[in-house]
Amino acid sequence: MSKKYVIAFDQGTTSTRTIVFDEQGNIVAISQKELTQHYPQPGWVEHNPLDIYNDQLETFNKAVLESGINPKNIASIGITNQRETTVVWDKETGKPIHNAIVWLDKRTTDICKDLKKQKLSNYIKKNTGLVIDSYFSGTKLKWILDHVEGAQEKAEQGKLAFGTIDSWLIYKFTKGQKHVTDHTNASRTMIYNIKTLSWDNKLLKSLNIPSSLLPTVQNSSSNFGNIEFNGVQIPIYGVAGDQQASLFGQGGFEKGIAKSTFGTGCFILLNTGKKQVKSKKGLLTTLTCSLDNEPINYALEGSIFAGGASIQWLRDRMQIITSASETEAICNSIPPLKNIYVVPAFAGLGAPHWDHKAKGSVYGMTLDTGKEELVKATVEALAYQTKDVIGAMEKDSKSYISTLKVDGGASANNYLMQFQSDLLNVNVDRPKMIEVTAFGAALLAGIKAKVWSKTEISSIRESDIIFSPKMDDKTRKQKYKGWKKAIKRTKRN
Ligand code: G3P
Repeated sequence: MSKKYVIAFDQGTTSTRTIVFDEQGNIVAISQKELTQHYPQPGWVEHNPLDIYNDQLETFNKAVLESGINPKNIASIGITNQRETTVVWDKETGKPIHNAIVWLDKRTTDICKDLKKQKLSNYIKKNTGLVIDSYFSGTKLKWILDHVEGAQEKAEQGKLAFGTIDSWLIYKFTKGQKHVTDHTNASRTMIYNIKTLSWDNKLLKSLNIPSSLLPTVQNSSSNFGNIEFNGVQIPIYGVAGDQQASLFGQGGFEKGIAKSTFGTGCFILLNTGKKQVKSKKGLLTTLTCSLDNEPINYALEGSIFAGGASIQWLRDRMQIITSASETEAICNSIPPLKNIYVVPAFAGLGAPHWDHKAKGSVYGMTLDTGKEELVKATVEALAYQTKDVIGAMEKDSKSYISTLKVDGGASANNYLMQFQSDLLNVNVDRPKMIEVTAFGAALLAGIKAKVWSKTEISSIRESDIIFSPKMDDKTRKQKYKGWKKAIKRTKRN
């Protein structure tokens, strides 16, 4: 019998990738392209949806070519994507009516204020699991309808379609035949009810969003249509927002498993099982990947806006490093920091603080503070922010998180992972293959195609290193106390 392969499309905030996996979960080929970012005004971030599609297509072609596999042996495709980023397109022309508004974009702060004035905070928290923030798609969609000439009218005539990046890619790759999404992506829009698993009419009404714009919501592992590739029809059998995909790829489909992805942002998710836990500590409640014939699980999520983005800031704006990989050696080259903290609130503070007005700050500098200290404090900030979220998660879920599974680019930094373990005082478990997000999407697609079963996942995932805590209690407490002070001084509300 010929070998089977599963492909993952991983459309992230800063890059677009295609990865080919074999039946053992090994990477056979990978192709990647940086995505152009547009910053039309301070606080605004856009992507060109056509760039996203073209980049995905280009990496798809390159990865298949590089792998040398016969397209007939591709069992299925899984798509994972940056979540919340919003695209609206014209159903007749298939063209976007505006650039995609990226999850980091802050332009809808006033719409959020208005929702708060309408006293919808509690309703939104209870029914969507989210807090009112410009992070989510709902207000971005409203902004496009309000600001693109004739858009609201066209939407009311059923001529427009809205989608997160998964929807948009599926629409393009299926040549306009499918307008669909999955539970994980829908749960990040702030217009999807995670209790009833349906679009929320009350919120649609208050944002003036006609329901004809919305995609059909399916299980994350289900049939999303076919992609034609060199005359072969390949089914898309998996779709999930990137953070839920990585939770799945880490084997996090059982209650109690927590993971952190150190990407552009840092995203920590804890599977809380079949019961929706409503956070009292500033976390979000979100849906995990859904499978046919299985009840859906909920997760608590802490979203940190500046993770790897702050390392990029060191590289591109401060220009004190030339590549992210240098940071580990720099951190190891100087003694432990004494009270120097970088609070990378470049896009405000996300969970658990939620302060969109906060700005990036540095505390505790003296005349002997050099660029190495600044680099180390920026790296350590990723771990401090993660600790803030894990602390909130433990309180909300009334459970103790004994191991944190990690993935994403910055998880390759051994200094950061050891510091994370020290600060949390728990084991930090990094898998051999850190492309967990793409792997999660491939798993969803492979399960539906019967390449894998859910029970096999733990045997595919192998740990690379388990970092265990080495820091003494007194130092840990002292360091964290200093961080909390720095956060207090940064917050504006
Ligand atoms: O919620 C935003 C998140 O999905 C973006 O992830 O990996 O593109 O930083 P990433």
